[in-house]
Amino acid sequence: MHIDEARQRGNDLLRYASRWWAGEAEVVHTFFSRTRTPGEHLRWLRMQAFKELQPKPEGLIERLVLQLKDGFYTLEEKTNRTEYLETIDFLLEEFRHYVLFADVIDAITGSKLTTEELAGYEVPEETRLAAMRRDYIQKHGQLARAASSFCEGGGASLFYEGMQISGDPVSDSIAAACRSVYEDEMDHAHHGVEMMVQAASTEEDWKLAEEMVAAISRQRLRMRNQQFGFPLGEARLAEIAEGKIEVPARFQALLV
Ligand SMILES: [Fe+2]
Ligand SMILES: [Fe+2]
Repeated sequence: MHIDEARQRGNDLLRYASRWWAGEAEVVHTFFSRTRTPGEHLRWLRMQAFKELQPKPEGLIERLVLQLKDGFYTLEEKTNRTEYLETIDFLLEEFRHYVLFADVIDAITGSKLTTEELAGYEVPEETRLAAMRRDYIQKHGQLARAASSFCEGGGASLFYEGMQISGDPVSDSIAAACRSVYEDEMDHAHHGVEMMVQAASTEEDWKLAEEMVAAISRQRLRMRNQQFGFPLGEARLAEIAEGKIEVPARFQALLV
């Protein structure tokens, strides 16, 4: 497949997946449309801090930290220096996201969170999402890695909506954290589209990619809905899956 055609396919896929990312924005926007107590904020913030750090057996962050440790000893042999740097960059960003949300949590509670406590904030829809990504990667390798990366951050919708809130110290600190994560997550998703353009070469690849991106995005929306206490009902989720939702223009920045 010619590169221009592949980019076209990547952009088409992005436009298709945008409905679920717009759905994530609707979930978060609905939650933030009422003034929330610090306690109400704490719940989703802890779930987000969990997602950034993944303090669980074989969580992504732990796996990459161990990969860096082992890779150091095989640098320039088994370990490629450019890939090593990419892993450091990824870890730096995700760990920074963790620090941003953990700091907001501690400012609200006035104490210091523990990773054991955070481990209790993995909700079932998040477990399902992680399992789905893992299963796809086991089955389809690089194409599935690209699909997973393609969906990373869900159009950065949580962070975009979060950076709009204000009016009290807790809201202001949430907005500052979200603003800081927003640009990174838009970059991650953009990188995911590029990765997909490289990984998919045949018609079958693109079909499979579309299937995986739709399934992951749908599950991401369910995860966000649970994270924010189910602001959207099943009927609305079904409508979004049919594309009955307005897609924000900001997703155009992700086109390749
Ligand atoms: Fe992140
Ligand atoms: Fe990310």
